[in-house]
Amino acid sequence: MPTRCRYFCYGVIPCLVVLIATPGIPASISPFTTGSLRALAAARGFWIGAGDIHIWPLSADVQYRDVLAREFNILTPGVAMKFEVVQPDVDRFTFDTGDAIVAFARAHDMRVRGHTLVWHAALPQWLTAGQFSHDRLAAILKDHILTEVGHFRGRVSAWDVVNEGLNGDGTLRDTIWFRALGADYIDQVFRWARRADPDVSLFYNEFGAEGMGPKSDGLYRLVRGMLERGVPIGGVGLQMHVSLNDGPRPAEVAANMRRLAALGLEIQITEMDVRIQDTPGPLAEKLTAQARYYHDILRACLAVPRCTALLTWGISDRDSWIPGYVGHDDAPLLFDAAFASKPAYDALARALAGR
Ligand code: XIL
Repeated sequence: MPTRCRYFCYGVIPCLVVLIATPGIPASISPFTTGSLRALAAARGFWIGAGDIHIWPLSADVQYRDVLAREFNILTPGVAMKFEVVQPDVDRFTFDTGDAIVAFARAHDMRVRGHTLVWHAALPQWLTAGQFSHDRLAAILKDHILTEVGHFRGRVSAWDVVNEGLNGDGTLRDTIWFRALGADYIDQVFRWARRADPDVSLFYNEFGAEGMGPKSDGLYRLVRGMLERGVPIGGVGLQMHVSLNDGPRPAEVAANMRRLAALGLEIQITEMDVRIQDTPGPLAEKLTAQARYYHDILRACLAVPRCTALLTWGISDRDSWIPGYVGHDDAPLLFDAAFASKPAYDALARALAGR
């Protein structure tokens, strides 16, 4: 295959073919090059990853592919496994992009986090505008979970079964699923997920519950109650979308992780990014402070044996979801827009190396 064509493909099936047919990446940037984050992580049995992975750059951008495979040993798709993508009609499932991303991960010996089964966002219009009865919605969600978890069975290492189910005060968020299935809906959907895959780790994933406070207290009560009721939850995902301005102190995050781990749960930092734009000061100083923050959070995680992974939400500042979300530019990730590593990258490498 001519080099030019190797990384370009159009449409999902050709992309899948290209992703599988491409034997790997050039030897000079082998994923097993020593000194990569993944090599350092593997040496201590840790998972270092990138999330918000999308099929289009994965198919078309050699740098994106190469950095992902070289530096990380776990990934999370951005949208490919969300409800609106997977089930575009009530009676139709499409797993093409999810399968292609999983194929890439397997070809490069990476794990995949499944994200996400039950969320109030990324729902298709046929569902939100459908005027379904509560019983019908429950049946739709059960079918969705059994079908999707069954499809990826054995190919993902964890599922974010429920995403962002809590309000800021730690109470349950009022969502379409809460209303249809009732206040014990989280227990119910974890049981469905377990039925479809007896082995995969089942996670509850949340934002803004990393430090100590009403939301993380609510999270703690929620998952402790689930364990008491025999619900098959295995872990908690702390998203960790923060700003240098308002991020929780690493010591607090450590305390929160310790109390969750004491319940016997695994903990993963699932979607980390650290915004710097809203903090005053020269850029170089902010990048240094950002690096320190990444370092201290990873160190806190590494000090808790049940904290098994840290994933950033995106690879480079070019691809970050943050500008689209907050409405202006920022630089929250480990690589700059040209895929050059930033001080935050070196900081994570140091933390992985125990420094
Ligand atoms: C975001 C992705 O980053 C975007 O690419 C997508 O368009 C919308 O969703 N918390 C989550 C993620 O759990 O699924 C969200 O991802 C970001 C916030």
